Amino acid sequence: MRTYRVAWLPGDGIGPEVAEAARRVLDAAGLPAEYLPGDIGWEFWRREGDALPQRTLDLLRTTDCAFFGAITSKPPAEAARELAPELRSRGFVYRSPIVRMRQLLDLYICLRPCRAFFGNRLNYRENIDAVIFRENTEGMYGGVEFPRVPEQFLAEPGMKAIPADAAISVRTVTRKASLRIVEAAFRYAVNHGRRKVTAVHKANVLRTTCGLFLECAREVAAKYPEIQFETANVDAMCMWLVKNPLDYDVIVTTNLFGDILSDLCAQLVGGMGFAYSGNIGENYAVFEPTHGSAPKYAGQDRVNPLAAILAASMMAEWLGEAEIGRRIERAVAAVIEEGRVRTYDMGGSAGTQDMADAVAGALKHVRVPVRHTRHTATEEHRPTEEQVSMRAALPQRIDAHGSKIEELAGTGVHDAKGG
Ligand code: IPM
Ligand code: MG
Repeated sequence: MRTYRVAWLPGDGIGPEVAEAARRVLDAAGLPAEYLPGDIGWEFWRREGDALPQRTLDLLRTTDCAFFGAITSKPPAEAARELAPELRSRGFVYRSPIVRMRQLLDLYICLRPCRAFFGNRLNYRENIDAVIFRENTEGMYGGVEFPRVPEQFLAEPGMKAIPADAAISVRTVTRKASLRIVEAAFRYAVNHGRRKVTAVHKANVLRTTCGLFLECAREVAAKYPEIQFETANVDAMCMWLVKNPLDYDVIVTTNLFGDILSDLCAQLVGGMGFAYSGNIGENYAVFEPTHGSAPKYAGQDRVNPLAAILAASMMAEWLGEAEIGRRIERAVAAVIEEGRVRTYDMGGSAGTQDMADAVAGALKHVRVPVRHTRHTATEEHRPTEEQVSMRAALPQRIDAHGSKIEELAGTGVHDAKGG
């Protein structure tokens, strides 16, 4: 049996605890993997001026995929103050490692399932089961920013109305990135028996960038007549998601809108303790709980590790171990439904590792399909076990995946999120 090589990037804050919990479950589920630890996080920013050192990028190059816990990010000024004294004034700029990984490795899909597990008392409504496809490489995250209007821009007639001391962030949307994220959303819909794709935008104001995104979405949608397609303005979408969350199925959108909508959707199904992501490209992927490093809870064995455990299940599935992935997901569903082991956010007093042990224990008993919470209106679209395999739907790991990192490392790709 092949042994997968997984870059293990626990990070800081609560990252190491939730990563440990995920490992307990992966080990109990028998994922044939070797885990290679990598340096990432605040400590490396302070000591080396780089939160994602080159040696970690090199590690990614030699692994099948990565699991990432969480890291602390701070605004640029604060980050600069915390740098080791000998590194100050050497021009280091803090850049978010997760955003860098997404861009350097071209992990263009940010897949964020938002599913109300049966019996979770934190569910805003039962039966919510949406999936967000967030474009993960461009939009407001390009990192092209100016603290005041650059001289060259002044010649542009449209800039006349903008005061010279305006700060500027550049938003880029390309046809290529728009087509591929929408295509991924539709492929997923088809392979997972989903009925509808909603493309979210703000084309009434961001006419050029969102206009292009929308045009691409329509173009792709036309190839999938069997899948219902609709579009929604992002502001209205926030309202509708709260009002009628069961109306949504697959949601596809640009980077920043996806960031915002995915936190909203996370809260509909219990909060950040249940929100997990796959950052997926053609040949590499990084799996992570969506939450941050929550430094105030670090080291207390208190936070909910289910998001990390679900990210691990998604990772197993992506690696091709669909059965292991599904068993982990079922074990999570079983523990939630039983309701005996609950972390503090779920109204209980179980610790992080207690929860991991409960899921690991439940793995021994899960055989039946996960109690699915999709609403009956779409019952006839329910996918078969085989269809549920993510391998059928998304770009998968291929063996020769290293070159892209090499090509892109050092090209000075910047990320917008300094903190
Ligand atoms: C997320 C996070 C990141 C983002 C931050 C940490 C840069 O909020 O993964 O949703 O904005 O993408
Ligand atoms: Mg976010």
